Amino acid sequence: MPHLRFYDLHTSEPGSIRAELSHGLLAAAPFTSPKYLYDSLGSRLFDAITELPEYYPTRTEAAIFAAQREVLASTLPPAACMVDLGAGSCAKAASLFGALQPSQYIAVDISVQYLHGVLAALSEQHPGIDMAGVGTDFSASLDLPADLLAQARQRPINAFYPGSSIGNFTPDEALAFLQRVQRLCAQGASGGGLLIGVDLVKSIDMLELAYDDPLGVTGAFNLNMLRHINTLLGSDFDVRDWQHVAFFNTTLSRIEMHVQARRDVTVRWQLEGQACEVRFASGQRIHTENSYKWTLDNFSALLQSAGFRSSQAWCDEKGYFAVFWAQA
Ligand code: AVJ
Repeated sequence: MPHLRFYDLHTSEPGSIRAELSHGLLAAAPFTSPKYLYDSLGSRLFDAITELPEYYPTRTEAAIFAAQREVLASTLPPAACMVDLGAGSCAKAASLFGALQPSQYIAVDISVQYLHGVLAALSEQHPGIDMAGVGTDFSASLDLPADLLAQARQRPINAFYPGSSIGNFTPDEALAFLQRVQRLCAQGASGGGLLIGVDLVKSIDMLELAYDDPLGVTGAFNLNMLRHINTLLGSDFDVRDWQHVAFFNTTLSRIEMHVQARRDVTVRWQLEGQACEVRFASGQRIHTENSYKWTLDNFSALLQSAGFRSSQAWCDEKGYFAVFWAQA
């Protein structure tokens, strides 16, 4: 019988989610966190995005992993504890089990509910790997349950953070996050580190098409967040009042996604019995996501600042995307 455990470390209550959303919507420059893009429809729309010809990151990263299987197998320590940050379907990690031969696998995701079914099936297929699912917001804390950490520390700890999700963090936040990952990996036996996918700076046309595709799937993904927010906050956003806007901010090296009011709009909700209201003039925006684009040099400097000893990177031929291995 394969060993399988689950932990739910959730601290965020509905009240704090509502307070956080209200704070962003009432700010002088209104914003929302990209984590609210992912309700069940949002997650499906993101999966659809990854199939679009214009959205190159997912398939380019998969091609790099496939091309570098042998190299990864000889570079990363075997019999490690693989800590998958934002595991979701666990498919990317599972596709590397053969090459990396982990002896323990910890899938970390915002929703532990979803991990139950996924890990039950995966541990049947890989009875030799000790598996655990942890539900936590790892962008806030990387603290693992004590018994799980004690077990992980007996091996090299290999953190896995694919998909260029690091792009959602500002450079300061990315540094703080990578420092925490480095500290986690450094607690394991020697040889551990971080395997991470990073999207790279490229032509503005190509970047903007990837985030404003002609089919409108990314637009649907962005606007769907307003429906999700209505559910969480009890607000009265009408999707028809808003339009998707995405562009590359060259100065800050990031794609910005916004929703922009098509006309004058008033949005209302209740917070702890108080009526809240925010008025948007036609053309005003809510900033919904940043997706930072790095260069090989800037990202390896960031890894070094975060305390990693050394790093190496593999790219696709065109230099669109990079996979870094950074030793803790
Ligand atoms: C999941 C954060 C990596 O930034 O490319 C895709 C999300 N947003 N299209 C990205 C996203 C719009 C994606 N990440």
